[in-house]
Amino acid sequence: MLCFNRLAIGFWISLIINFGSGRLAESGALSSVVALGANIICNKIPGLAPRQRAICRSRPDAIVAIGEGVKLGIAECQYQFRNMRWNCSSVSEDDSVFGVQHKRASKESAFSSAITSAGVVYAITQACSVGHLSKCGCDTSKMEGKYTSKGWKWGGCSADIKHGLKIARKFIDAREIEENAKSLMNRHNNRAGRKAVKDNMGTECKCHGVSGSCTMKTCWTRLPPFRKIGEHLLNKYNSAKLVKPWISGDRLQRPKYLIIKKSKRPNRKPRRSDLVYLERSPLYCDYDPETGSLGTVGRKCNRTSTGNDGCDLMCCGRGYNTHQYTRTWQCNCRFHWCCYVNCNNCSERREEYTCK
Ligand SMILES: *[C@@H]1O[C@H](CO)[C@@H](O)[C@H](O)[C@H]1NC(C)=O
Ligand SMILES: *[C@@H]1O[C@H](CO)[C@@H](O)[C@H](O)[C@H]1NC(C)=O
Ligand SMILES: *[C@@H]1O[C@H](CO)[C@@H](O)[C@H](O)[C@H]1NC(C)=O
Repeated sequence: MLCFNRLAIGFWISLIINFGSGRLAESGALSSVVALGANIICNKIPGLAPRQRAICRSRPDAIVAIGEGVKLGIAECQYQFRNMRWNCSSVSEDDSVFGVQHKRASKESAFSSAITSAGVVYAITQACSVGHLSKCGCDTSKMEGKYTSKGWKWGGCSADIKHGLKIARKFIDAREIEENAKSLMNRHNNRAGRKAVKDNMGTECKCHGVSGSCTMKTCWTRLPPFRKIGEHLLNKYNSAKLVKPWISGDRLQRPKYLIIKKSKRPNRKPRRSDLVYLERSPLYCDYDPETGSLGTVGRKCNRTSTGNDGCDLMCCGRGYNTHQYTRTWQCNCRFHWCCYVNCNNCSERREEYTCK
C-alpha cells in the first residue's frame, strides 16, 4: 500500500515538474494553471494519504518546489556517494521523483531520508525568498532597517526557513504515520535532514560607510550552498547510530521512541541531529533485489587508490577489467605573426578500470 502510494505521488509530482519547469514557471500563469490541474489530478490519485491530498489541493505552488527539492536531494546524494559501492541508486525505478527507496532500514536509507527532507526545506525556502510562493517571503522578524544588539542592521531579504521546515515536515512525514520502529526511524531522519538546513544557515553582510570602512553594516540570513548540507549529512552518516525501538507498558507493543542499541548508558536516546538506523547494511557487492543492492559490476574504480573507490574495495575482490583508450588534444600552441596559431597534436594512452 505504502509502495503504491509513493509511486502514485511520484508519478504526479513528475507530471507537475515537467509541466512547471518550462517557461510557465516564470510567468504568473503557473499557479492558476497548476491549481486547476491540481484539483483534477489530486482527486484522481488513488492511495494518497489524506494529509498529502490536502496539501496537494491547497498548495499546488508548493508542490512544484517539493518536487525540485527531492531532485536536489538525490543529485547531492549521488555526488556524495559517487565513490562508494552504494552510489545512491536503487533497484526501484521511481527514485527520481520520490527520493531513493530502500528495502532495508539501513544507514543508506537514513541518509536518503535526511537529504531528501533537506532538499525540500531548501527548495521551499529558496522559492519563498524569490517570491514564487504565495504564503511566504522574506523573514519578517529580520525587518529591513531593524538594528540588532550587535550594532548592525538587517537588510535585504533574510531567508525565512520556517515555512520550508513546516511544509517539509507536513508533506514528507505524512507518509510515516504507522506506529512502528521503521516509521519512527524515518521521522527521526527526516527531522535530522530539516535540522541540517536550519543549523547551516549563514549570515552575509555588506559594509557601507566611507570607502568601505564598515562603520555601517547590513546583514541578512541566507541558505548555505546545498553542498555544505550534503557534507554535513555525510558526516552524520559516518557516525550514524544503530537504534532499537523502546517498548514499554503498551499492550499493542507500539514503540514509544528509539534508543541507541549499544550504549554504556541504558536507554540513551539519539540526538536530534543524529542519523539513525535499525538494520545493518548489505555489502552492496552483488545484485540482490531482496536487500536492494545493485552490486558493483561495471562500476569504475581506481587501481591505485586504497580507499572506497579503489578496485579492491569497489569490486569486492572479484577483480577488474582494463580498458585502454587514447586521449588526444592540442598542445604546444604557438602564435605566429600575424595572425595564426599553430599547434601540435598530443596524445596519450590511458587506462580505465571497471569491476568484473
Ligand atoms: C550506480 O551504480 C549502478 C550499478 O553499478 C549503475 O548502474 C548506475 O548508473 C550508477 N549510478 C550513478 C548515478 O552513478
Ligand atoms: C586514483 O587514486 C590516487 C590515489 O588515491 C589518486 O592520486 C588519483 O588521482 C586517482 N585517480 C583518478 C583517476 O581518480
Ligand atoms: C592534428 O589533428 C587534426 C585533426 O585530427 C589534423 O587536421 C591536423 O592536421 C593535425 N595537426 C598536426 C600538426 O599534425
